[in-house]
Amino acid sequence: VIHQREYLLNGELVQWNGDVTEIYSPVCIPTENGLERKLLGSIPNIGPQEALDVLDACVKAYDNGLGVWPTMSVEGRIQCMQKFVGLMIKERDLVIKLLMWEIGKTLPDSTKEFDRTVDYINQTIDALKDLDRESSRFQQAEGTIAQIRRAPLGVVLSMGPFNYPLNEIFTTLIPALIMGNTILFKLPKHGVLAHYPLLKAFQEAFPKGTVNTLYGKGSEIITPIMESGKVNVLAFIGSSKVANGLKKLHPKVNRLRAILSLDAKNAAIVTKNANLDIAVSEIILGSLSFNGQRCTALKLIFVQKEVAEEFTKKLTDAVSALKGGLPWEKDVKITPLPEVNKPPYLEECIADAVSKGAKVLNENGGYNQASFVFPAVVYPINDQMKLYHEEQFGPVIPVVPFDTIEEPIDYQVNADHGMQVSIFSEDALEVSKLIDPFVNLVSRVNINCQAQRGPDVFPFTGRKDSAEGTLSVFDALRSFSIRSLVATKITDSNKE
Ligand code: G3H
Repeated sequence: VIHQREYLLNGELVQWNGDVTEIYSPVCIPTENGLERKLLGSIPNIGPQEALDVLDACVKAYDNGLGVWPTMSVEGRIQCMQKFVGLMIKERDLVIKLLMWEIGKTLPDSTKEFDRTVDYINQTIDALKDLDRESSRFQQAEGTIAQIRRAPLGVVLSMGPFNYPLNEIFTTLIPALIMGNTILFKLPKHGVLAHYPLLKAFQEAFPKGTVNTLYGKGSEIITPIMESGKVNVLAFIGSSKVANGLKKLHPKVNRLRAILSLDAKNAAIVTKNANLDIAVSEIILGSLSFNGQRCTALKLIFVQKEVAEEFTKKLTDAVSALKGGLPWEKDVKITPLPEVNKPPYLEECIADAVSKGAKVLNENGGYNQASFVFPAVVYPINDQMKLYHEEQFGPVIPVVPFDTIEEPIDYQVNADHGMQVSIFSEDALEVSKLIDPFVNLVSRVNINCQAQRGPDVFPFTGRKDSAEGTLSVFDALRSFSIRSLVATKITDSNKE
């Protein structure tokens, strides 16, 4: 049990004596009242005034671009980052354990999340060296010589979700930081304790005020921060509704750069020419990795009617064989869900579909006890059902039968989101007919494979309400900086 009382403010771990929020595990333990979530610890619930102090530290450390961190050389910033990653690696076992307990991620996935984050930081360091070589150059045109460099943007507010509390948040925080910005880091609601062992690493590795942390109720502490107009970049991963609300709070929204990764209900399209075994194994990965709690998850499966029966049979058998249990248990794929309101929400979505004519195809589908929900294959889904439109973000696989490929295309045309699609077909002509519309409707088309963000060197973005700006090892460095230049007229005296 970790009762965290510190938050990082201007290089100091300040002790908090006020209100706290208790953190519960999705892993439940038997009590006299039945199964209950286990208490893992508590975190500070800082108030609006403390939040503004944290913001102030960030603003001062940036100091209009004149602070120690924004003026530090690229080599200097890289050294600090290397120190950070060295300290982070020492906390590997504890962070992995906390990820399992706090968000219910399996041992292999928690390990992957940690190791992938370390790789991401190291790749970012290498990418910065390349970017610096490429950006810090002279360009000559029309009698003028320009010295171009990559400059930071200012104060970055970094916020992200529970599903990848380490990896996903660091895909904005780390590039923003290494480009010379100062960071206001609002910790996620679930996955907050997994960051506890890293607080000291931030404190030791970076100059004071460079990274500052915020804990508490978003509505109370983020509102005054955004209203202050002092945030230059909003780096947010979550829902488009929350992102739009945050942007609107900024008094001069044109001065705010937003790097956002938002809503997605990624479709899979299984045509009559698909290899159904490949389709099923990839869709299981795409729809159910980390219980479907990924923005990149496949959340609506279209299957052509000619193969619908065979496909749903194979899918149902494969889902039924998945092992549910606790995150550290061997071969477990399905684990308890951290969000308290998720099991009843999923139950409601399934009931809505069933009341309109769909069936849960697997016997144990939708089995629901405390925080645990066994995945349900729900079929046939149509556009009158919640599961057709809403991003369930959980272990439910809605399957829609279709006649012609225009139907899934229409779905994507009419959708408000546009992150990824997975097309399953062995017919090259058919694939090309689907690629053409989809490349301009979503930001990544996957052929005969699940949807995913990685490898992290690939660009990660989305259309419509799915994203703003682009992330990836390379793109993120550009997203959190601006090309600035010093232009000098060439004269006889400075020609040499
Ligand atoms: O929730 C969105 C994550 O960025 C997905 O990442 O596709 O690597 O699981 P992933």
